[in-house]
Amino acid sequence: MTDAGAFGADRLWIGTSWKMNKGLDESHRYIRGLRDYVQSTPLPGVQPFIIPSFTAVTTVREELGADSPVLLGVQNAHWEDEGAWTGEVSVAQAKDAGAQLVEIGHSERREHFGETVETTRRKVAATLAHGLMPLLCIGESAETKQAGGSSRFILDQAAGALDGLADEQLRRVLIAYEPIWAIGEHGRPATVEELRRPFADLAREYGGRTSGLLYGGSVNLDNAQELLGIEHVTGLFIGRAAWQLPGYLRILEIAAAHATVTAADPHAS
Ligand code: PGA
Repeated sequence: MTDAGAFGADRLWIGTSWKMNKGLDESHRYIRGLRDYVQSTPLPGVQPFIIPSFTAVTTVREELGADSPVLLGVQNAHWEDEGAWTGEVSVAQAKDAGAQLVEIGHSERREHFGETVETTRRKVAATLAHGLMPLLCIGESAETKQAGGSSRFILDQAAGALDGLADEQLRRVLIAYEPIWAIGEHGRPATVEELRRPFADLAREYGGRTSGLLYGGSVNLDNAQELLGIEHVTGLFIGRAAWQLPGYLRILEIAAAHATVTAADPHAS
């Protein structure tokens, strides 16, 4: 299987989590369409990834095949390899099922399932120990933003999960900045202006030291291009707009066009 660890900061990471959506039939259809698309369409400079529900992970793995250019992730994983942890799935099990990425610390998990900075730290460590890539999600609430504390908050979340990693471990980490106020049906997309500062702050700490700094939260077909143009943004983590395959494919195309332009002229974005 393609080793996710072989990838680095030289590409735009464009991925979607399906959250708690899609049965096996729908997962199958989506992935078959995606597989056919990536087989016939070059996506220079773009790294696609898909994060289905646990129930669909093996179906997606089988449909993608072992050497797919599309990476496969899970939405959560426990730090222990095995044991009496009812309802949990370990990083080791996720790897066994064919996952290459582990999403960690999404705000929905922090809010509803007791995810803490400490559990994100353990999950990042376990993910790296098994040779998978952690996709660490960080983001502040509307109240924290209002009070002017966004940067401190997200840097603390990131440091709490990543401090102490060796340089070569950090290089395998993806960070997704997903402000809570921008996520989901009740969210509004962050503006380019609002994103400059958090990405500059994240880049100061982690720029060039991780595999990527992604933005997530109400990404759609209309804003994908300008979001990719923000300095230090090296990918998009998408929910609703990519749950139907045509939406995801369109954003992949936008990213490939962006990557081609910036490869030709690094100052173009
Ligand atoms: P959304 O979800 O694109 O539907 O806002 C983003 C996310 O939760 O990562």
